[in-house]
Amino acid sequence: MDEMLTIGGVRADKLVKALGTPLMVYDEGALEKRLCEFKESFVHPAFETQVIYASKAFSCTAMLELVKSAGCGLDVVSGGELAAAEHADFPMSEIVFHGNNKTPYEIRSAISCGVGSIIIDGKMELDEVIKAACELKKKTSVIVRVNPGIEADTHKYIITANIDSKFGVSIYERGCIFDMIRKISECKYLEFQGIHIHIGSQIFGIDPFITGIRRIMEFIADVEKAGYPVKTLDLGGGFAATYIESDIPLPISLVCNHILLECKNQKDIFGVSVEKIMIEPGRSMVAEAGLTLYTVGYSKQTANKKYVFVDGGMSDNIRPALYGAKYRCDAANKMNAPRTEKVCVAGKCCESGDILIEETTLPPLEPGDLLALYTTGAYGYSMASNYNRLPLPAVAFVKDGRARCVLKRQPYEDMWRLDDNSNIEL
Ligand code: LLP
Repeated sequence: MDEMLTIGGVRADKLVKALGTPLMVYDEGALEKRLCEFKESFVHPAFETQVIYASKAFSCTAMLELVKSAGCGLDVVSGGELAAAEHADFPMSEIVFHGNNKTPYEIRSAISCGVGSIIIDGKMELDEVIKAACELKKKTSVIVRVNPGIEADTHKYIITANIDSKFGVSIYERGCIFDMIRKISECKYLEFQGIHIHIGSQIFGIDPFITGIRRIMEFIADVEKAGYPVKTLDLGGGFAATYIESDIPLPISLVCNHILLECKNQKDIFGVSVEKIMIEPGRSMVAEAGLTLYTVGYSKQTANKKYVFVDGGMSDNIRPALYGAKYRCDAANKMNAPRTEKVCVAGKCCESGDILIEETTLPPLEPGDLLALYTTGAYGYSMASNYNRLPLPAVAFVKDGRARCVLKRQPYEDMWRLDDNSNIEL
């Protein structure tokens, strides 16, 4: 029996031979399937709908091309993400520009390249957007981010809609929001398109979304009563992915159906004019399609545990250290071997918290064996760092027995590429 893990019909050892480790591998077919599943599920006869991929979860040109081919839009949150989208020839009209502290430069770039909409995060930011739009004399569609005040049951670092969140304007600050919408309407270069909410990330149940829709539709009714039609409701992202066996998200088609049904119910109840519903999934689009291959190095037995060390760690996956995130793994070249050892899988960074899996069982491993860490496709590469000057890993897309490298391993030269010694004119 073949003991080697295969991904998209490609043997893990062959990928490792070609590209080394740590190596991120995405099943391209799974990415395409997921994009298509979202796109096909998020439809309702009463609404125009749009699925926007949150590029912060994982962005590279090959990924953005898949998103474009699937006909999905793109959520960017910085000048860098916007530039990457431009570089990938992503249609600007399909981009929404997010962020709680967009710089004047980023705002001007977004307006100049004609993004689909800018999500306005606060009062001061709106003033800057108005200033920029008037300077550039360019019509721009804007959406106001409202914090609906929902405490979704997820890690505190990824909750975004609690009362003191740094994102958006609280639904309880009605005066401020109405004032913002009035200002937008009075600016001849801005078009008030609608309202955005995002309640958090890695949300399993449907209830927080339903609560969010009810709360915001009621609010939209008030906005419309004040004379401002709300065409679009952007519901953000947050759909969960499966990291460990006990993570059981609802099927995405079901979540999409429930969301759109509730939108229709609430639209009827409040008699609002909302025509378009958007969602912005990031994690649920890419997490499960990706895994990371590491080469096992040394092991170490301490008083209470046995460590297995791998050749990456928090530099390519900060999530366990930052959020206590849990992952599953396999010995990629010993898939059928009995898992007889209780071990802790740790990285090679100089940090005690650089633990990828606190406790798991694996077959006895030796240096040179391969370890596959599953579900690393979201917020792994995108949050990677050069801590300890470890290079960013290579990334491969595999499909139907073929593989392509979509991101090269970062060369050591990059560690000093930005070194400089120029005098600063003061
Ligand atoms: N839209 C907005 C406005 C967001 O803030 C986010 C994520 C998304 C969409 C996409 O959410 P998703 O579908 O991926 O849950 N680094 C953390 C996750 C931070 C999410 C930030 N905002 C992690 O690794 O868990």
